[in-house]
Amino acid sequence: MEVLIFPDAQSLARKSADLVESQIKTFPDSVIGLATGSTPLGLYEELIRRHNEHDLSFAGVKTFNLDEYVGIPANHPQSYRTFMDDNLFSKINIESSNTQVPDGMADNPLDVGPAYEKMIEEAGGIDLQVLGVGTDGHIGFNEPTSSLGSITRVKTLTKQTIEDNSRFFKPDEFQPKLAITMGIKTILDARRILLLAHGENKAEAVKDMIEGPLSAMCPASALQLHQRTTILIDETAASKLRLKGYYKFVGEMQDELVRKHRPSDWISR
Ligand code: F6R
Repeated sequence: MEVLIFPDAQSLARKSADLVESQIKTFPDSVIGLATGSTPLGLYEELIRRHNEHDLSFAGVKTFNLDEYVGIPANHPQSYRTFMDDNLFSKINIESSNTQVPDGMADNPLDVGPAYEKMIEEAGGIDLQVLGVGTDGHIGFNEPTSSLGSITRVKTLTKQTIEDNSRFFKPDEFQPKLAITMGIKTILDARRILLLAHGENKAEAVKDMIEGPLSAMCPASALQLHQRTTILIDETAASKLRLKGYYKFVGEMQDELVRKHRPSDWISR
């Protein structure tokens, strides 16, 4: 795991956009895994800005979103499809047919997972997966005790996740308690992973993910098994890390090494 610590969420967003941009420029047909939520918004704003001001093109890019609620239609204001359309897809030159979000309204939600896995495989696998992390350590909607070998499937949300997300639903509105999510194995199969986290409320999950034992109680700790994961966090999210000083030192040394020997080392094909 590579851990990069930034003074604030803005510089973190810029760096994550640099990494995504290099991926897309090197391989214009890249397959990118995407997340919703507040965490990647800065990244998406930065990618849109680069599209508008520097002609960053998404014409050949394919995307697969991590997850979708079960039981609300794609055009519902709180669906993850709507989130992606509003916050990224409608503002860049990506073909709608190249963007995939699991279908939360399928007749049989149990069929969605295997079909989604097949689509990812047919696209050649995910080159670069963008992740956020929940306050309970979930990635995608893989809640604590999710199998570390899981693939895309229906999951029941925890009370904490339902509560964390309740701010997006009106008090009397139906709030989904099930979701379809890529599994932890699906995520680990990505060639390169970027996990972004900012804010003090993520500090505990970040500590468990990076320094805790590998455990299904903190699904994000499974990333310890992945060879090419970069964790981008701000100072507040890093505040509970025991080896924070060491990660900064490693960052400086790595910078020097990569600059000198392999400037495009992180590219994922
Ligand atoms: C969203 C997703 C979730 C979020 C996590 C953090 O597609 O997969 O795992 O990344 O719940 O959410 P925010 O960023 O809103 O704190």
